Amino acid sequence: CAPSYETFLTQHYDNPKSSVGKQYCDVMMKRRGLDKPACKEVNTFIHGTKNNIIAVCTASGGKDYGKGLRISLRPFTVTTCKHKGGSTRPPCKYSDNKSSRYIVIACNQDGKPVHFDESL
Ligand code: C5P
Repeated sequence: CAPSYETFLTQHYDNPKSSVGKQYCDVMMKRRGLDKPACKEVNTFIHGTKNNIIAVCTASGGKDYGKGLRISLRPFTVTTCKHKGGSTRPPCKYSDNKSSRYIVIACNQDGKPVHFDESL
């Protein structure tokens, strides 16, 4: 099925950044269901408003980046979670990296983000 905006929000939107104590990624990857059926290898959470993220799909907040992708005109604060350790089965353990980065996303025909590609 086509990727949806709701799924994008579940996987990639967390604003303001949730206060879950240390081990943010371990908690959030489980909370958002990204530990099943196997530990997702890499996942980015964007700490920005929905309006600002949606704007990346428009000329006010983003520009074409080729292959149907858009890159934000301004950096967002993001946390990138990277799976660590050999086992891909839960409980999943992640490293956390919070940084300010330009996000690369795909948008649907309604102008809503549906895919997170990378951050630069
Ligand atoms: O690069 P790859 O196709 O393996 O990425 C698969 C998925 O991993 C992406 O669709 C996205 O959900 C997630 N990802 C991410 N942040 C990155 C790279 C990948 O959230 N920096």
